Amino acid sequence: MTESHPPHPRITKAVIPAAGLGTRFLPATKATPKEMLPVVDKPAIQYVVEEAVSAGLDDVLMITGRNKRPLEDHFDRNYELESALLKKGDEARLAKVQEPSDLATMHYVRQGDPKGLGHAVLCAAPHVGHEPFAVLLGDDLIDPRDPLLARMVEIQARHGGSVIALMEVDPQQIHLYGCAAVEATADGDDVVKVTDLVEKPDPADAPSNYAIIGRYVLDPNVFDVLRKTEPGRGGEIQLTDALQQLAADEKVGGPVHGVVFKGRRYDTGDRGDYLRAIVRLACEREDLGPDFQAWLRSYVTEEM
Ligand code: G1P
Repeated sequence: MTESHPPHPRITKAVIPAAGLGTRFLPATKATPKEMLPVVDKPAIQYVVEEAVSAGLDDVLMITGRNKRPLEDHFDRNYELESALLKKGDEARLAKVQEPSDLATMHYVRQGDPKGLGHAVLCAAPHVGHEPFAVLLGDDLIDPRDPLLARMVEIQARHGGSVIALMEVDPQQIHLYGCAAVEATADGDDVVKVTDLVEKPDPADAPSNYAIIGRYVLDPNVFDVLRKTEPGRGGEIQLTDALQQLAADEKVGGPVHGVVFKGRRYDTGDRGDYLRAIVRLACEREDLGPDFQAWLRSYVTEEM
């Protein structure tokens, strides 16, 4: 009997590059990974893993490096803490401790030499194999109420190839991002075809104001392209350069589409945005929100 395979296998694997040094947050990140900085009371990285899981990706590979052991510990059991909380009968906190270890199947690989985002993604090749997979960058926090990854997975299932997340930014800010030249599609206002890509262009040379934000659903052929990609901007192997090659030649790994995101995104790699994320999420929390908002209102009116 012949087995029938669906035309597009369900995507189950998420790759989270987390080897960066976090220099923008020194000295906080001297001995603590930047991914562990709390956003209200949860480390930033937990939001990212939760996002992957809620889009159906519960096999998570983190690309780590030296000094990143706290990431592994966070997603593991902590029996000492659990039994202390159990003894006290503190079930609410016990649930909070157990939550991260119950979320997903976690895997880790070390990047070794930090040779850029493209190189970090290439470290995932042996784990990912020949299936499409997602990449989530830890610095970008997508509000859970504005789902993005599920839409990207849906578009990838429809067209094959790769799908990247895009956001329109102030043209003066485009030099901070990968930038995409795009064409409209029949899939709706939020889906575009990507025709060209350039990493962190000067505003004068940018083909558009569509910035890549840190969510990708990738065709596994990207690995072969990455193996041949020369160091680009900043002397690093750039994921954007590999995707540019996929967009230029569809025969290699299918088309590249973009999902244009209009929801709430916080760049927790930027100190100002990190603070804004905390204030906003704290205001919206049922347990902390009412008191915090009242304090914030009086602080703003009296002190500012
Ligand atoms: C990386 C990518 C860039 C993308 C950005 C999104 O840059 O190289 O294309 O726009 O993430 O956050 P980084 O911010 O790591 O320098």
